[in-house]
Amino acid sequence: MVDLRDLTLPNYDLPTPPAMAFRQYGSDVEQGLGERLDAADGFIVITNEFNHGYSAALKNVLDHYFIELSHKPIAFLGYGNVGGARAIEQLRQVVIELDMVPIKYSVNIPGSAVLRYSRGRRRRRGVRAARGAPRAAAREPQPGGPTPRRRARA
Ligand SMILES: Cc1cc2nc3c(=O)[nH]c(=O)nc-3n(C[C@H](O)[C@H](O)[C@H](O)COP(=O)(O)O)c2cc1C
Repeated sequence: MVDLRDLTLPNYDLPTPPAMAFRQYGSDVEQGLGERLDAADGFIVITNEFNHGYSAALKNVLDHYFIELSHKPIAFLGYGNVGGARAIEQLRQVVIELDMVPIKYSVNIPGSAVLRYSRGRRRRRGVRAARGAPRAAAREPQPGGPTPRRRARA
């Protein structure tokens, strides 16, 4: 398992495209990841979705390698508001250019599930509190106005 948060892979800046210069790495980090990718028979990529796309960090990794990835199957698990569906569609196009074999089926975990079961739980509480604040203020009795039917929760 490779977590991109643990990698300090530089932004792509190799002198020759990886599809033309096999396994020529610019740093130890690039080489280390290259060797791990080389050793794998296939991949399952877990991706989020921001603004209908996958992350720049993931694209940066894909751009760094070719021979390590080519001719290997790749499947996707997406999460986000719509389960990363659009990010995965984009990724399928990109990995074909790397001579990979994207698998038709994917796992899509919709945002609410992710938010509940991951670190989003706390974030949601914060969002609810932020959303609730102006509503609660709006329900405050106004001088001369009607009595509010429900009191805002604390
Ligand atoms: C700026 C921003 C844009 C987002 N855009 C989308 C989107 O286009 N589609 C989607 O399904 N989810 C979208 N989301 C929801 C994220 O995919 C979701 O919060 C996910 O958990 C973020 O991944 P992370 O927890 O690994 O950071 C967006 C979230 C943010 C903060």
